[in-house]
Amino acid sequence: MPHKSLTLGEFIIEKQGDFPYANGELSRLINSIRLAAKVVNHEVNKAGLVDITGAAGETNVQGEAQQKLDVFANKTFINSLINREIVCGIASEENDEFITIKGQNKDHSNKYVLLMDPLDGSSNIDVNISVGTIFSIYRRVTPVGTPVSMEDFLQPGNLQVAAGYIIYGTSTILVYTTGNGVNGFSLSPALGTYYLSHPEMTFPEDGHIYSVNEGHYLQFPQGIKNYIKYCQEEKEDRPYTSRYLGSLVSDIHRNMIRGGVYMYSSSSKLPDGKLRLLYECNPIAFIAEQAGGAASDGYKRILDIKPTELHQRIPFICGSKNMVKKVEDFMSKS
Ligand code: AHG
Ligand code: MN
Ligand code: MN
Repeated sequence: MPHKSLTLGEFIIEKQGDFPYANGELSRLINSIRLAAKVVNHEVNKAGLVDITGAAGETNVQGEAQQKLDVFANKTFINSLINREIVCGIASEENDEFITIKGQNKDHSNKYVLLMDPLDGSSNIDVNISVGTIFSIYRRVTPVGTPVSMEDFLQPGNLQVAAGYIIYGTSTILVYTTGNGVNGFSLSPALGTYYLSHPEMTFPEDGHIYSVNEGHYLQFPQGIKNYIKYCQEEKEDRPYTSRYLGSLVSDIHRNMIRGGVYMYSSSSKLPDGKLRLLYECNPIAFIAEQAGGAASDGYKRILDIKPTELHQRIPFICGSKNMVKKVEDFMSKS
């Protein structure tokens, strides 16, 4: 077993004191996420064997075709959180509106809201490429005892108390932070237990991988075009290697281990990029920074952006600190 066989359950108990205002609520919340992730993992692994691949026949609020597993993962996480009554509200990429949860005593007394991308990279399911779940947790800003409201969800990323992702890949791994570094836990399929396999994950300060959908090259702003050319130049440590799965969590996870930069910038067709600030960019940015990396919209820190709407999109440049800085330099110069 990896790393002295420390399980996620043991780790959560050990770290409970790290949380401000700890009363076990946040620990229980992370607990219910890891359980839901097991259920989704089980379902993802059946893809190809039973009728769960392909489109569900609906589009979400952003006009994207929902896959059957998008719908399944969304329901699984929402039900798991509602049943345990540990959050006061949930916002999901797959739901038009946020969900209000009254909690155990029906008095809106829970303190945390959860935002999520229940299934990230879902267009990859049918071709057996890793997909994931991304989650982000905040303390509510409205008074306990009242129903949650929009302002509880529209908080800047620098107020997150926890964030994480799960990759359903060659192995299933849950990576999360509560603001004290980043740790990764691999799921033992035989035992159904997560073990600490990637303690204190860090983004190398520099890297040799750039991850971008180069099919959009002609539509990119000049700064991004120039940076891509910089990556391709023949110099001492270049050209860099291009790696892009189209599955944000997998692209980020690989770059965090190997060193690299992920870019989903604006383009003439997508002026705000594609990725969603609340469900994708903020949680990934929090993890990246906690691991010593950086995340920017090309000009400024992602975590300082004050969201204006639930399903807001934003250009996203994330990865090794020096590489993100370099992209920003190219952006400001052009
Ligand atoms: P989702 O499946 O949640 O809609 O997210 C897909 C995202 C992200 O995972 C990925 O990096 C990006 O879309 C890929 O977009 P392109 O296919 O446009 O490159
Ligand atoms: Mn996504
Ligand atoms: Mn998704």
